[in-house]
Amino acid sequence: MTRRAAITGYPVSHSRSPLIHNHWLALHGIDGSYERIAVAPDEAHCFYESLGDQGLVGCNVTVPNKEVAAEVCATLDEAARAMGAVNLLWVEGDGRVHGANTDGFGFLGNLDQMAPGWDNGLREAVVLGAGGAARAIVWALLTRGVKTVTIVNRTRSKAEELCARFGSDSKAADWGEVAGLLGSAGLLVNTTSLGMQGQPPLEIDLSALPVSALVTDAVYAPLETPLLAAARARGNPVIDGLGMLLHQAVPSFERWFGVRPQVTEDLRNLLLADLGVAA
Ligand code: ATR
Repeated sequence: MTRRAAITGYPVSHSRSPLIHNHWLALHGIDGSYERIAVAPDEAHCFYESLGDQGLVGCNVTVPNKEVAAEVCATLDEAARAMGAVNLLWVEGDGRVHGANTDGFGFLGNLDQMAPGWDNGLREAVVLGAGGAARAIVWALLTRGVKTVTIVNRTRSKAEELCARFGSDSKAADWGEVAGLLGSAGLLVNTTSLGMQGQPPLEIDLSALPVSALVTDAVYAPLETPLLAAARARGNPVIDGLGMLLHQAVPSFERWFGVRPQVTEDLRNLLLADLGVAA
């Protein structure tokens, strides 16, 4: 029987997940499908609770349903528990729904592949933004043993909420403090929407940032954001955000279809073509 999975959220029309999973399904010759299912917030609790009845082996969950979907799960993995949000659900034989969060794994998988050893001796990281992507990235960095993660957000209270969630190794700061914080940072991550196509660029003064510090962006359209271009121009190693999207899909595919897929150049090029971005 065809194993059906899906991306669910509201909206889902923009999601690139079908491209990723259908590429892997074809590559591995698996009798499976991956579709888009729009799940409005007022239907979400009921939909996820009865996931098995929808004929799905599981699904991915995107905005704005990641928190409500976590509430229906019989079990959550450590990441989902820490974040209070899931992006992966699966149904077990007894019909119970289980949840995990692979967004932090996606962030780490991308850096591990593109810059092996990036976390050796890394003590301080600065994360710009305090939304859903930041929540996963801060968790991932603290899990990897980064000593201090400073969260800088336009709305300071949201940065403080993340710090309350993750404990004393995370700190909140204002935009005005960024230039000063960069002097001791080994990693700078943008998780805000600034720099995305159609959004204003992220303009920060990088002059204090050590040239050895790694700079990465959760934004992947354009692939080279103004932040990454500025960092590259002054000699910093940079990693674009597309890999985070690709790597977060790996555990989902393995969970539903039983094969651990690879993030390859072919897959990256497929996504770049779809985004209309040159490799
Ligand atoms: P995601 O799930 O991708 O993280 P999000 O939860 O909508 O998206 O978060 C967007 C982030 O971009 C937030 O940190 C937001 O800051 P606020 O919390 O102050 O809204 C940040 N952001 C968006 N537009 C911004 C702007 N013009 N200047 C500064 N930060 C901005």
